[in-house]
Amino acid sequence: MAEVTNVTEYQAIAKEKLPKMVYDYYASGAEDQWTLAENRNAFSRILFRPRILIDVSKIDMATTVLGFKISMPIMIAPTAMQKMAHPEGEYATARATTSPGTIMTLSSWATSSVEEVASTGPGIRFFQLYVYKDRNVVAQLVRRAERAGFKAIALTVDTPRLGRREADIKNRFVLPPFLTLKNFEGLDLGSMDKAEDSGLASYVAGQIDRTLSWKDVKWLQTITSLPILVKGVLTAEDTRIAIQNGASGIIVSNHGARQLDYVPSTIMALEEVVKAAQGRVPVFLDGGVRRGTDVFKALALGAAGIFIGRPVVFSLAAEGEAGVRKVLQMLRDEFELTMALSGCRSLSEITRNHIVTEWDAPKALIAPRL
Ligand code: FNR
Repeated sequence: MAEVTNVTEYQAIAKEKLPKMVYDYYASGAEDQWTLAENRNAFSRILFRPRILIDVSKIDMATTVLGFKISMPIMIAPTAMQKMAHPEGEYATARATTSPGTIMTLSSWATSSVEEVASTGPGIRFFQLYVYKDRNVVAQLVRRAERAGFKAIALTVDTPRLGRREADIKNRFVLPPFLTLKNFEGLDLGSMDKAEDSGLASYVAGQIDRTLSWKDVKWLQTITSLPILVKGVLTAEDTRIAIQNGASGIIVSNHGARQLDYVPSTIMALEEVVKAAQGRVPVFLDGGVRRGTDVFKALALGAAGIFIGRPVVFSLAAEGEAGVRKVLQMLRDEFELTMALSGCRSLSEITRNHIVTEWDAPKALIAPRL
């Protein structure tokens, strides 16, 4: 097998290795998958304005997130059911994030429990929360995450119902019977029944609370002292409301284009959210980040950091823990190189002036007539 030299290459390897049902679940987006393509395409509408002749012999990518020091602004988004990709699943992901010094977000629907992931050793971890109809389940789970040393709750707010992912419908997607949603095993909510469509969509319809609203963000603060990141914000309006309701941070996310199709790419929605946040809370981004240049563009538009989703499951499928390590290393190296070639030595030196976007000025990207 030829050497893997970028993050995207893991997708084809995963496709070869995984059962079709699993690969399709990881890869697909909602409906026409317009937003799925757009999450990538939009990055190519942003070009660099690099500064030259700056001593870039030392580059510092370190930053702090909610007070936690990490070595780079590249973190791991929650992706469900990682043991379908590799037998070590979330254990491998947790181990792969410790030594590069970054943050892993564990999905509510992980195939390893909060306690199991904590047992892999020290590391800064966030817990992604889906709110179940049964609030006792939620309260118990949040308490367990807290006790297991998780440092923040990423509250997913874009999934009152599951998006229409047609591959999952065709495949009658379900969690394979030898796996369980480990966090819910003891609560009899750990398995997924076969359905006439997507088994996951049916599970969500049965268990997830569609009435979820801003008052529940307040409620969550009464049951935990952990900071809450609101994951799935795409507008200025919701940014303001999230901050009013006590959010400690915002994650600009369209759920990897798996929920509402024809929402904008996250990189195009980012600046609106950053402006509305007015520096009061950090704004993060996930969706389509595959290159160090993408990371730089997000930071130039005001993100405090980014998260990656699919690259983790694809590299897990290909090479387990070593694959996830390599993905983080490649993104780190590319980001460092982008900083050097743009004349930025630390994250604070990355500014809006280091990029130009297609939406800045109508003709900005058209070659001048000479
Ligand atoms: C996800 N995502 C997700 N989000 C969440 O809040 N809880 C979850 O359990 C999952 N599960 C999940 C599974 C898979 C296979 C994918 C691809 C995505 C969304 C995820 O956190 C993130 O928003 C996107 O994956 C980011 O986009 P990229 O990096 O995959 O393009």
